[in-house]
Amino acid sequence: MTMHTLADAGDVAGKKVLMRTDFDVPLDGDGNIAEEFRIIRQRPALEELLSRGARVLLIAHSSAAPSFEPLLPHLERLLGVQIRFCRNFAEVHAYWDDKGTVALLENLRSDAGEEANSDAYARRLVEGCDLFVNNAFAVCHRAHASVVTVPTLIPSYAGPLVEEEVAQLTKAVQAPAEGKIVYMGGAKASTKVPVIRHLIGKAQRIAVGGVLANDIFKVLGRDIGASRVDEHAEELLAGLDIHDPRLVLPTDSVTDDGRIADIGPESAAAFAALARGATTIIWNGPMGECEDARFAAGTNALARAIAESGAWTVVGGGDTIAAVARAGLLEKFSVVSTGGGSMLAFLGGEQLPGLAALGYSAS
Ligand code: 3PG
Repeated sequence: MTMHTLADAGDVAGKKVLMRTDFDVPLDGDGNIAEEFRIIRQRPALEELLSRGARVLLIAHSSAAPSFEPLLPHLERLLGVQIRFCRNFAEVHAYWDDKGTVALLENLRSDAGEEANSDAYARRLVEGCDLFVNNAFAVCHRAHASVVTVPTLIPSYAGPLVEEEVAQLTKAVQAPAEGKIVYMGGAKASTKVPVIRHLIGKAQRIAVGGVLANDIFKVLGRDIGASRVDEHAEELLAGLDIHDPRLVLPTDSVTDDGRIADIGPESAAAFAALARGATTIIWNGPMGECEDARFAAGTNALARAIAESGAWTVVGGGDTIAAVARAGLLEKFSVVSTGGGSMLAFLGGEQLPGLAALGYSAS
């Protein structure tokens, strides 16, 4: 890893730091933050910068909230600091002039320039800032202005969360195949099949559930009734040997209304047995429709088996983390990644543009 990290930033006292964070969390029906974990994980980097005397402008996006303004009291509570909310760049400049300590700019994605990776937008973001810290591992797979262009404009560093996630996921990929069990579930075959392809030679077993298993059953010509599948399953699975003995598929299922809704008890027991013999476990994606309590047994059984396995365990993905949190088992996992798509891209061996922009190269 050749990324510059905060330790390389030297004396930051009095410096104006632009920090990319990830506050992209689900909201409940009343618009309140439903899952705090990603926000809390931003706290150490912010505390470090403030203790080193820096002034910080936080930038982030939310797909759930059009504006961060109503969330501000919650963000302040979770981050343990007072935050000045800036609706636009004029308010940012006023904040810098006022010698404020922590500010938050409005949802980056409210400006089309962010996702379009506009050079002009990136230049506006860095205006007045001395250095940039990317502490948002979860967006490092996005070639957006705040992720890839900002680091070309001012001295840039990986924040401690990015550093940690890269180190832990590298450890997971490089752990010996013998004793390494990977569980992949959920949907979105396009993001998960590359991970299976990349890890199959690096793991003892890859056990598959959820819609992803339906996709494989479909290609195998099994009758899966009205079960959900990825419409591009066949082409996505084309490069993968689905008969590979290291690939473990469910042997039974719980069905509802003609569709597979969960793995069955026999599969849950077999998946749990794999966990008991493991030294390293990587898990992304629920085994069924676990947000519905009627179909949560498979995912819950797997969460318990992994939590009790004694292995070094890595879990990631919003739905998986929510399921593990509902089961009260989050603390039992060795590593909880803040990344969803970015974790999968990293595990799939992709070069993440946000990491490349910080000087990271996998080799
Ligand atoms: C995530 O939720 O994985 C990150 O915040 C990235 O969000 P995106 O998928 O909307 O780009």
